[in-house]
Amino acid sequence: MNTQPAFNFTFPINPMPNEAINLIPFPRQGMSVETVRQELLNLQRSDWRHSEGRLPLHGYFASKAVSDIANEAASMFANTNALAPNAFPSCKKMEQDVVSMALHLLNGNSKSSGSITSGGTESIILSVKAARDKTRASRALRRPNIVVPSSAHPAFDKAAQLLDVAISRVPVDVDWRCHVSAMEQAIDGDTFFIAASAPSLPYGLIDPVSELSEIALKHGIWLHVDACIGGLLAPFVRQTGYPVSDFDFMVRGVRSISTDLHKFGYAAKGASLILYRDKEDHQFQYSHFRNWPKGEYITPTLAGTRSGGPIASAWAVMHFLGEDGYREITKRLMILRDRYLAGFDEMPELTVLGRPELTVLTVISDKVSVFSIADEMRRRNWYMSLVAEPAGIQQTVNLVHESIVDTYLKDLKAAIAFARAQEPDQDFHLQHASRVVTY
Ligand SMILES: Cc1ncc(COP(=O)(O)O)c(C=O)c1O
Repeated sequence: MNTQPAFNFTFPINPMPNEAINLIPFPRQGMSVETVRQELLNLQRSDWRHSEGRLPLHGYFASKAVSDIANEAASMFANTNALAPNAFPSCKKMEQDVVSMALHLLNGNSKSSGSITSGGTESIILSVKAARDKTRASRALRRPNIVVPSSAHPAFDKAAQLLDVAISRVPVDVDWRCHVSAMEQAIDGDTFFIAASAPSLPYGLIDPVSELSEIALKHGIWLHVDACIGGLLAPFVRQTGYPVSDFDFMVRGVRSISTDLHKFGYAAKGASLILYRDKEDHQFQYSHFRNWPKGEYITPTLAGTRSGGPIASAWAVMHFLGEDGYREITKRLMILRDRYLAGFDEMPELTVLGRPELTVLTVISDKVSVFSIADEMRRRNWYMSLVAEPAGIQQTVNLVHESIVDTYLKDLKAAIAFARAQEPDQDFHLQHASRVVTY
């Protein structure tokens, strides 16, 4: 098992942009299948194994049976290409089914539509593109810009960069959710898009979507809800009897929703959804070209070739589990989440940030450095997920943590005691908070 070095703030890009790459030749002769397999297993040994429950993010586990069918479907369709629905009608059918089921769950209607993308980032980029182009079709935008809460995912900045629009990040409110009136103040005549998260990744809190919807409708601008984490979780949390704030197409002003199939949809990685209230909006996401010798080329998403693997994986899991299956998983998940909350409650040094409605929990402390705690937790062989502002430790609870929650809480208690004994210098928090690496 690999352990994260204490305070490793080197961003793990491989290679770093300014680093010379070490050129290596292909092996002279091919290896046997057995050797290749062995080499792959060796490589895998350096990875953190999600199944051991020591990763607080990156993995979304429901059961071994779910993982097995997700992986089997991904592998069965790995070499199909959703770019070519005439050659691979299976991909088209599965994509339509997955989109339709998600729209049904999120209160879409018969005019709604959507696409499967490679991940939340692509879904968000496409929502901004569709909104920009749809708005431009009816009015000129001199300085096109979007307004998002400061807690929104960097995918919005990436979208703004790629699409050459400006972005304003508005500081969140005292409850760590989007500050609605400040968002309104940031809107100008060239703002075409505002966004909310359900929930935000740093804080795990659902923004006040209904209030933002009123603003979007009043100003005639697009409201996107980034439900990459919550889209396939929150409806089942609600069905389980827990209250959940409104965030989906039930809210009138919501024009598009991003929701990841590879998070709480439990599909293999590489699958997300971008959904639109109205298929006319969806059309503006597409790219059309015919100025090359091969004729018309139309793609719904950013990709050209799109593997059918992740699409099939999502289709398989949704059919394997059904609504009852997702609900049963979510019931256990919320019981587990409540065990974490009860455990945090017993540690007077920690405060849970805001009132999490779902299963992403962030804890902060004004009594002890969470970075010292994280350091000690790393020494105890836990991968740590940190938040920079405010300094926090995070846990995205999923069922893989069922078997290890008590060990985690016991170690956390010990790590707090250790950190208290450290008495870090006063600047410790500040120095380290500015260098936290999200992942
Ligand atoms: C709220 C939220 N939005 C967007 C994304 C981006 O998704 P992806 O990493 O699949 O591109 C994430 C990823 O964690 C997220 O948590």
